[in-house]
Amino acid sequence: MSQAADRYQRLSSTPPGRFLVGRLGLPQSTPLRRYAPGQPLLDGPALVGGAPERRLLSTVEQVLELGGGETLTAVDDGATTPVAAIVFDASGITASEDLRALRDFFSPVITRLGRCGRLLVLGTPPEHAADRRHAVAQRALEGFVRSAAKELRHGATGQLVYVAPGAEEGLESTLRFLLSSKSAYVSGQVIRIGSGASPAPDDWEKPQAGRTVAVTGASRGIGAAIAQTLARDGAHVIAIDIAAQGEDLAKVANAIGGSSLALDVTAADAPATLATHLQERHGGVDVVVHNAGITRDRTLARMKPERWDAVLEVNLSAQERLNEALLGGNLIGEGGRIVTVSSIGGIAGNRGQTNYGASKAGVIGIVETLAPELAQRGATINAVAPGFIETQMTAAMPLVVREGGRRMNSLAQGGLPIDVAETIAWFASPASGGVNGNVVRVCGQSLIGA
Ligand SMILES: NC(=O)c1ccc[n+]([C@@H]2O[C@H](COP(=O)([O-])OP(=O)(O)OC[C@H]3O[C@@H](n4cnc5c(N)ncnc54)[C@H](O)[C@@H]3O)[C@@H](O)[C@H]2O)c1
Repeated sequence: MSQAADRYQRLSSTPPGRFLVGRLGLPQSTPLRRYAPGQPLLDGPALVGGAPERRLLSTVEQVLELGGGETLTAVDDGATTPVAAIVFDASGITASEDLRALRDFFSPVITRLGRCGRLLVLGTPPEHAADRRHAVAQRALEGFVRSAAKELRHGATGQLVYVAPGAEEGLESTLRFLLSSKSAYVSGQVIRIGSGASPAPDDWEKPQAGRTVAVTGASRGIGAAIAQTLARDGAHVIAIDIAAQGEDLAKVANAIGGSSLALDVTAADAPATLATHLQERHGGVDVVVHNAGITRDRTLARMKPERWDAVLEVNLSAQERLNEALLGGNLIGEGGRIVTVSSIGGIAGNRGQTNYGASKAGVIGIVETLAPELAQRGATINAVAPGFIETQMTAAMPLVVREGGRRMNSLAQGGLPIDVAETIAWFASPASGGVNGNVVRVCGQSLIGA
């Protein structure tokens, strides 16, 4: 993180700074707990509960037990000791009158959620509900969780996970991600888990062992963090970038024991080159991460065709062509993962970014249209939509725009490339076979496009 990024955070964590921030009504910014290998799942006890007829709580309890932490069953016993997570299974709420169970469970205990704590609500996807009233009650969970997440303090986050009936076994990798500090900058998200083989890895610290991963735009920024994180998880990583970035690309690849490939993803022969490389050197690929992306901002009136074309080509059309070649050549098979990088700009839109917004919304279209086909292959496709991430790109923004982007979210700070990379690593895990067709924002619950 740059020095400028910390300054406000450092100031607001001193007693006089905290006083000033409180009096001026400025956002409070807590340094986030982030993952280091060997870290326990939670740094304190978890409080769990559920509505009657629940079907997910036993999986939660198993995962917490494996994580080695203490699990408390919530009773309004007046205890005030901090907890690291509060989890509520709302899957059994079948009518809106019964949503009161959320208030009754959370209200007495919510202030016990500690620094960087986790609030989690589990439900049944409304589209899988037994009847209309059940669907309405389950749909209501979204508004509850998004609002509750905005009330959290001290770096805590909140999410809703909808689990389709029969997909309970596929919940573990998602619980491990959301409860741990790997999800530090993810908040206010709604995640859907469906059926799809989700074999538990032999070692949860090395879920990518024996797998091959290709990452585009890997020479720096978010792409370099993705390459490093997937290598940490045990993968052989093929780091891809344009030839002009060759030196930085080689450094990234060498540091993680991976390999590098100089490739402009927009080149006419890029799909064939990549397909041949993967086939001949690796016999296929397990995970493809489409991270390469550019911006060429101008308002619409001043948008030259070259700026439009460059952004659409790199960010969207090249990805479509690469996917066609890889899927057409059957290079991505059972257990395969495609992960693509969208942006909150593709969800909310951004002045001066009609080209970028179109490309990043198009990326969401790729996920939506390919998810059914990938499910048939026993594979998945998902997208991350980063908000404000501290990179060279955002460091170059004018101060006021930069500070606005950084603070206008529930965590009042920018995210780090590692936060995007950890989210991608969760999608990419063999244990995430039920996570298909999702778009998850890594934006600290940004107010933009919320
Ligand atoms: N930084 C943010 O706040 C932010 C927010 C939302 C989305 N994103 C997205 O995240 C991704 C990574 O962004 P970043 O901030 O790390 O940017 P970056 O500019 O630091 O890195 C992008 C990389 O892509 C490579 N690249 C560009 N064109 C290429 C091509 N034709 N072929 C192969 N590689 C190419 C670049 O050489 C570079 O290494 C992008 O898709 C970006 O749109 C970033």
